[in-house]
Amino acid sequence: MARRKIIAGNWKMNMTPSEAVALCDTLKDLVKNDEVDVVYCVPAIDIVPVAQAVKGSNVHVGAENFYIEDKGAYTGEISAPMLKDAGVEFVIIGHSERREYFKEDDCFLNKKVKKAFEAGITPILCCGESLEQREMDVTMDWIRLQIKSDLAGVTADQVKSMVIAYEPIWAIGTGKTATSDQAQEVCKGIRDLIAEMYDADTAEAVRIQYGGSMNAGNAAELLSKPDIDGGLIGGASLKPDFGKIVNYNK
Ligand code: PGA
Repeated sequence: MARRKIIAGNWKMNMTPSEAVALCDTLKDLVKNDEVDVVYCVPAIDIVPVAQAVKGSNVHVGAENFYIEDKGAYTGEISAPMLKDAGVEFVIIGHSERREYFKEDDCFLNKKVKKAFEAGITPILCCGESLEQREMDVTMDWIRLQIKSDLAGVTADQVKSMVIAYEPIWAIGTGKTATSDQAQEVCKGIRDLIAEMYDADTAEAVRIQYGGSMNAGNAAELLSKPDIDGGLIGGASLKPDFGKIVNYNK
């Protein structure tokens, strides 16, 4: 069974609530494509207005972060059940920016993955190597360690339903995209690892995205690769060009 492509925008810390609604309106007709899943992962404060703005369309709402407890004295934090109640279906976990700036380690990320499933939200789990690691030829070793740690105790059925995003850190926001062969090689490596950790069915079902300077010009080529099932898109998700990425097959 062919895996359905999933194109997700990662808005990062961009868009005020009113800008967010305006962007949803701009993109509304441009992101129509029955053959792919479309997700907007938006800042927490934009979730409610975006959920309202995309109601009745093909767009799913995603979040960029949450805290691992359900509720309580954690000033400033937002929980997974809160996201769920607001209409969130997907959440980014383990983005390199959160790993780097907010010191989220794999032990913590493993808790987040489990908590997302507990709340009924699909994780988009990110992994990826730095330029130094690529040059040292330890890319796959590093990514295997990330995935193995982040998925410890996660069941095969859960993995089948989730999304993994391969995002080489050197390609994020730099305009420097991995070649489609480089991206395919690592995405296949991740699928092989899932087969090793679980079984062939699980590896066949899990959707693996590429992320890192994906744009309207390079999306079709990247998405033509057998193990690349979608994209996680930062910069280009804030522009009308996002519609061209979603419609890469048209
Ligand atoms: P970019 O970001 O498309 O701007 O490189 C991708 C990401 O960080 O998810």
